[in-house]
Amino acid sequence: MAARGTGLLRSLLSRCSSPGPGLARCASSLPPPGAWSSLARLPHRDLYRLSVTDPDRFWGSAAADRLRWEEPFHRVRDCDLRAGKIRWFLGGKINVSVNCLDVNVEKHPDRVALIWERDEPGTEVKVTYRELLETTCRLANALKSRGIQKGDRVAVYMPVSPLAVAAMLACARIGAVHTVVFAGFSAEALAGRIQDAQCKAVVTFNQGVRGGRLLELKATVDAAVKRCPTVQHVFVAQRTETPAVMGPLDVPLEEVMSCQPPRCPPEPLDSEAMLFLLYTSGSTGFPKGLVHSQAGYLLYASLTHQYVFDHQDGDVFGCMADVGWITGHSYVVYGPLSNGATTVLFESTPVYPDPGRYWETVQRLSISQFYAAPTALRLLLKYDQSFVKKYDRSSLRTLGSVGEPINHEAWHWFHSVVGDGRCPLVDTWWQTETGGVCIAPRPAEDGAAIVPAMAMRPFFGIQPELMGEKGERLAGNGVGGALCISQPWPGMARGIYGDQQRFLDAYFKPYPGCYFTGDGALRSQDGFYQITGRMDDVINVSGHRLGTAEIEDVLDEHPEVPESAVIGFPHEIKGEVPFAFVVLKDYSSSSSSSSSSVVVLQQLRELVSTKIARYAVPEHFLVVKRLPKTRSGKIMRRILRKVAMGTTGDLGDVSTLDDPSVVDEVIEAHEQHRKRQEGEKKESSSSPSL
Ligand code: WT7
Repeated sequence: MAARGTGLLRSLLSRCSSPGPGLARCASSLPPPGAWSSLARLPHRDLYRLSVTDPDRFWGSAAADRLRWEEPFHRVRDCDLRAGKIRWFLGGKINVSVNCLDVNVEKHPDRVALIWERDEPGTEVKVTYRELLETTCRLANALKSRGIQKGDRVAVYMPVSPLAVAAMLACARIGAVHTVVFAGFSAEALAGRIQDAQCKAVVTFNQGVRGGRLLELKATVDAAVKRCPTVQHVFVAQRTETPAVMGPLDVPLEEVMSCQPPRCPPEPLDSEAMLFLLYTSGSTGFPKGLVHSQAGYLLYASLTHQYVFDHQDGDVFGCMADVGWITGHSYVVYGPLSNGATTVLFESTPVYPDPGRYWETVQRLSISQFYAAPTALRLLLKYDQSFVKKYDRSSLRTLGSVGEPINHEAWHWFHSVVGDGRCPLVDTWWQTETGGVCIAPRPAEDGAAIVPAMAMRPFFGIQPELMGEKGERLAGNGVGGALCISQPWPGMARGIYGDQQRFLDAYFKPYPGCYFTGDGALRSQDGFYQITGRMDDVINVSGHRLGTAEIEDVLDEHPEVPESAVIGFPHEIKGEVPFAFVVLKDYSSSSSSSSSSVVVLQQLRELVSTKIARYAVPEHFLVVKRLPKTRSGKIMRRILRKVAMGTTGDLGDVSTLDDPSVVDEVIEAHEQHRKRQEGEKKESSSSPSL
């Protein structure tokens, strides 16, 4: 098998490297039609090698044969990472919705595209490819009827649902750019994103339903759009019976859709035209609107979905993520639909109505791949195993984890309790910026082992590099450093909306010639990758990314707070939680426990909740007199992390501190705070009436 594959590789490569007639084809960088099917038969090792040694051939073949083009591309790529220039499939014209819908309707119109697993168990709704195409076209026509055109930005403030998927695909059909905002974000956070993207329209529901509770989505949109003069229309769909109060901007979505034709001609779009914006936190300032483009993103989502999860025809793909995150974009919508899969839209929570919900859903929907976040697994493993075992999980073939490091306990529980030890479990590392999975244990050679709790292997076309403190490339195994990727790949983000300089500074300046991920990683003795966590001021709360600076900006808005510093602090279930050090104006009368500071701290909690989202509210507050700073005024968060962890024995280099006595003050304040908390704990445990 290996020998045959290697021979095939040699003959494929020789076409490219030998001078003579093959050269002309190589110079134009275009592989022959049908090349992908022979490549796909290569053994994994050879295919990976080809993907990094001859990316034009690898990606060119995949793009030409796996995607449907309105016009073929004439060049595979034109990239220069030093300049942040990333362009793939130049000259090509494509429509992503055609690749996700029409192509499948031609082959299997009555196959189920979506299973909407609604909050109430047992009330799932199935949508076929034919129906989804019709709904998408009606929604696209509804957008067009209100003047939405190619290039316009449309905010989608909807929880995962068939209409949310149709809204995304409708934008893709007409060339509008969607920006899905997670429905847990506050009105302020939504407004900030709408303003930054200058959205012309918003699509939302009257209400959302999650874990038996109602979310007032329309009311939140109303509050947000008051501050958004670019918004001309708010399309409102009905998730519940409660009628929404309709204002002058509001358009009843279903009503307008029902009068629209069920067909809408797809707009042929340049490969590099924007497909969507997705906001994510960085280490400074306002979240960045990452730009993803059409063909490269779709190809990468499609290929990773198939290979990392071993997708096969007829599978029911269960990614538990919301469409508000990149995971929902790539593995609820674009990856699965481009591969003709049946994809699950999970509206509920892992514990509603009880902690067996996921596994009851697996049984009822016969899910083949189950993809979830470690935070949910850590929560579920606390409950009795019977919540898992009482359901039939024999449909499961691959398990996946995403969003944050998975600890060994959660990995083993997922693998042995949920998967009965018979399903490969893939810990997938990637980011909003990467578009799709970059490091995961699969694909790999047949039967290759999976090391627990490790992302392990780079995907096709991904060349990881580890960099040392002086920016040097760390060669060999058994080393750790800053995780970079040294070659462009088609799924990578193309920019930050409206701020190309920030894009360059954040990702391409730190290690010239490479994309810098912001994460640290180790390369094991066996050459496998282990992610160690963020190297910047970004934290990960329940798999949701947050910039500590974003929270600080909100805290500092309070008139009593001249300054603050937020760090990530370990949490058993959420992974990390924000820990806030706050300086109060009138320090003399305040400590974390004084009555005036209790009021301020409560106001701060509310402020963060309304300005960002509930999950961003710091779990811990510590009132301090001053913050440790360098002489140039930079807060030394490294020291605050050690104080919070209680590991002040080794503070490292403090010589750059402006006033080292601040450290003792902060340690003392923390000590007092800890003692008080212990006291409170004792008191509450000795008074059972509480
Ligand atoms: C950050 C990206 C990937 C989609 C969801 C999150 C962390 C992600 C892993 C993993 C360790 C991980 C990284 C990364 N992360 N997956 N398997 N192991 N860490 O996307 O919100 O853009 O966050 O999440 O720190 O940089 P995101």
